[in-house]
Amino acid sequence: YKRITTKSLIEMKANGEKISMLTAYDYTMAKIVDTAGVDVILVGDSASNVMAGHETTLPITLDQMIYHASSVVRAIQRSLVVVDLPFGSYQSDSKEALRSAIRIMKESGAHAVKLEGGREIKDSIKKILHAGIPVMGHLGLTPQSIYKFGTYTVRAKEEEEAEKLIDDAKLLERIGCFAVVLEKIPAALAKRVAESISIPVIGIGAGGGVDGQVLVVHDMLGMTHEFSPRFLRRYMNLFEDMNIAISQYVSDVKSTDFPNEQEQY
Ligand code: KIV
Ligand code: NA
Repeated sequence: YKRITTKSLIEMKANGEKISMLTAYDYTMAKIVDTAGVDVILVGDSASNVMAGHETTLPITLDQMIYHASSVVRAIQRSLVVVDLPFGSYQSDSKEALRSAIRIMKESGAHAVKLEGGREIKDSIKKILHAGIPVMGHLGLTPQSIYKFGTYTVRAKEEEEAEKLIDDAKLLERIGCFAVVLEKIPAALAKRVAESISIPVIGIGAGGGVDGQVLVVHDMLGMTHEFSPRFLRRYMNLFEDMNIAISQYVSDVKSTDFPNEQEQY
């Protein structure tokens, strides 16, 4: 294997090879995801929902993100590890943003950070990039702004928001981001963005006209089961399968079937 770098991703786009990306928040899952050949592992702030059970991504802290990221980094051999800067760790000013990004890089050993937003956080992104830290952008449905949007429905359906999104994507490319995530926007718009910039566009609910795809690993494995947006393809039904296995364990303990003669000393 050869380690994936931000450069390899840009080359993959140039060569027309699609990029695969999944989330991971812990060592064991990251080991599986890395071994399976996923190009990019995102330590997403979706850990706030998936790991901690919060309703939104807002409560997760920088310290908690660093804990998740360092666990993931210890598992990987090939994948590029990108870590979300959590809500409240970069919005005040660009110095705070840089300090947060530096903490993630130093304390977790990750390879890059991701920030939600375009022109509003341009100075912060530039400052992080100037420190030599690769930045992935994130536009469209940006969950840290859920209380501004008021709903998790598709973004940029109207011309004005679509034009702003295209301009923001171009801005992110111009200032030096190595890739950008587009979340839950019309497929035609996402394709247009992918065709108008040379850095990779990774979509989630953004159709097939982009340069790569990302999903939350617990969603695609069916470990979560109350979340079923149209864009989610479930490759397993682990919630059900794990439930069956664990119920079987409970009944084996109750019936004294477990442990048997071979399962003891
Ligand atoms: O936190 C996350 O999982 C994400 C992806 C859905 C892009 O930001
Ligand atoms: Na995120």
